[in-house]
Amino acid sequence: MILDLLKKRKSIRNFTGKDVPDEIINYILEAGRLSPSGGNEQPWKFGVITDKALIHDISQIAYNQEWIIKASFLVILCTYNIAQSHGGRDVQKARFPRHSKIIEELDDEIYSKLHMEEHQTKIPGTHMVIAALEHGIGSTWVSYFDVDKLTSFLNLPSSYIASEIIAFGDPASNENVTVKKDLNELVFRNKFESWFSRI
Ligand SMILES: Cc1cc2nc3c(=O)[nH]c(=O)nc-3n(C[C@H](O)[C@H](O)[C@H](O)COP(=O)(O)O)c2cc1C
Repeated sequence: MILDLLKKRKSIRNFTGKDVPDEIINYILEAGRLSPSGGNEQPWKFGVITDKALIHDISQIAYNQEWIIKASFLVILCTYNIAQSHGGRDVQKARFPRHSKIIEELDDEIYSKLHMEEHQTKIPGTHMVIAALEHGIGSTWVSYFDVDKLTSFLNLPSSYIASEIIAFGDPASNENVTVKKDLNELVFRNKFESWFSRI
């Protein structure tokens, strides 16, 4: 059951350093491939980094988060700006009509870094984290890094950015899961205020 796996999930930053077999890496990537995306655009590429020297360099780009060095492999979730012919900024304008003028006028570079597709990479990443759990592989998301630096370090084409890193590896210890808010603090039924005023 997926819930049983999720109840055991926690971010793992302490890895044994043991290699993860290619079959398991491919299983994890396959889970990412099967993700939904707006218009089925699949606006992503998945970079798999197993080279220890590169993992070391990437930990420095992630503002020296040293724990990353012992990961068996990293997945870099890369994304690109959807072409205007496939919706482009029109999708954002439809989602935020009050701000459509600003969205229209935003500089291309800034727009491409803030666009919706960056957030869409959270979906394949989540699939991958769950698929990894099935094989006892731990992981931690990493957003705290210099996006421009990692993008050029990986030689990504200019239309792409490296939007997220996930560090995967064999967990070195059995840590307690992180406490989460109770459902009654998170869920509202129908309209927000009337529901939360009851609790
Ligand atoms: C999008 C995202 C970005 C994150 N970035 C980092 C990061 O840069 N460094 C880090 O050590 N942990 C990072 N984390 C892990 C969070 O700190 C962790 O998920 C949170 O403390 C909850 O703990 P849990 O994952 O064990 O439930 C990130 C998590 C998410 C979802």
